[in-house]
Amino acid sequence: MKSSSVLLAGVLAQYASAFPGMGNTRREAGLLPLKPLAKAVTTSSSASTNYPPWHPPQTGEGTSSSFAEGDHRSDHHIVRSPCPGLNSLANHDICPRSGKGYTIPILTDCLKRGLNVGADFALVVGTAGIGSNPNPLTSGLYFDLDMLDRHDFLIEHDGSLSRADASTGNNYSFNQTIWDTVLAYYSGMEDAAIPVASKARYNRISTEAARDPNFSYSPVQFILSYGETALYLSTMGDPITGVAPLEYVRSLFEQEKLPYELGWQPPKTTTTLASLGAMAIQLNAASGEQIPEGVILGENSLKAVLIGLNAATGEIENNAVYSLAKLTGALGSVTSALKGLTSL
Ligand code: HEM
Ligand SMILES: *[C@@H]1O[C@H](CO)[C@@H](O)[C@H](O)[C@H]1NC(C)=O
Ligand SMILES: *[C@@H]1O[C@H](CO)[C@@H](O)[C@H](O)[C@H]1NC(C)=O
Ligand SMILES: *[C@@H]1O[C@H](CO)[C@@H](O)[C@H](O)[C@H]1NC(C)=O
Repeated sequence: MKSSSVLLAGVLAQYASAFPGMGNTRREAGLLPLKPLAKAVTTSSSASTNYPPWHPPQTGEGTSSSFAEGDHRSDHHIVRSPCPGLNSLANHDICPRSGKGYTIPILTDCLKRGLNVGADFALVVGTAGIGSNPNPLTSGLYFDLDMLDRHDFLIEHDGSLSRADASTGNNYSFNQTIWDTVLAYYSGMEDAAIPVASKARYNRISTEAARDPNFSYSPVQFILSYGETALYLSTMGDPITGVAPLEYVRSLFEQEKLPYELGWQPPKTTTTLASLGAMAIQLNAASGEQIPEGVILGENSLKAVLIGLNAATGEIENNAVYSLAKLTGALGSVTSALKGLTSL
């Protein structure tokens, strides 16, 4: 297995160098090297899988007997989200494959096992996720992945890297046209890294700001958008340096598959609120985008918006999420966040 991974990486490198300027043409010409090659390895009978197998959802899956009797997931279709990270984890059944019933303990465990993302981030992002459940108090403190596309409720926003804006298209499924505009920035490069990721992200914001009459981009969305770019650089690469092989990043977005077969392993360094906040600051510095007035980009503002607070003032902005934060325990960590926000 090991040698075939190495071989595969070599083949991919050859493709990449053979088509240095292929960013704009690869889709039309069918030259996308990642998909056919990765598929070939998956179906190879000799591939010994010492990593969790990958199965994207099948139409209608989950409606019949694919779950044990009594499993609360059995009466629902498999669902997915606008998030490539969670979808990938679910496709490997690291997080529940059904996409249903994500509680804080479940999320904390599977983010850690799957991507070495820390419990501090799982707690606050999970709280925001539960806030997307229309009835979190009566149904239980969980969310299903298909609840996460509530536009501007908290997490889902315009100017995504790989999804259309809510008012211009499907806001939760992968959109190749949009993703190609991000890949164009990486043309000829083997690694994604902070300087280019920053420009690619900012281009998505400026593009939609110019063409989407309903574009919305408040401080919450500003902060989360930086956090998402930091997330893919951290989990596909390194939470400190932000350098991630481009083929790993493409696997995450394009196939919603963790790129074990390309040699990826969960990073040894844990991704935390602190590491994400620090990377968000570096990403912002690299684009030069103006920070909304009163906002101090970083760990504390990331934590604050995810539990329903205003990133600039520390006041309660989203009552529903803030109330949930008391129940999930996320509020317990807020004292320091508030201190950080008001110290200047
Ligand atoms: C820990 C692993 C995670 C990773 C690596 C990750 C990665 C990402 C990335 C890269 C995006 C941007 C997609 C784009 O702009 O096209 C994104 C979006 C999103 N993520 Fe995650 N995420 C993770 C965890 C979570 C969790 C735990 C939740 C919810 C509880 C979540 C909810 C969302 C939502 C709703 C979006 C859509 C935002 C938008 O672009 O409109 N993510 N995620
Ligand atoms: C844009 O926003 C306006 C006013 O908020 C709303 O009436 C309209 O339906 C929105 N259009 C789209 C395409 O979402
Ligand atoms: C993908 O995004 C483009 C650009 O915003 C848009 O024109 C197209 O309708 C989107 N496709 C889908 C399926 O939403
Ligand atoms: C997001 O996209 C889904 C699927 O296209 C749609 O059902 C939902 O209404 C959209 N949300 C908004 C606010 O447009």
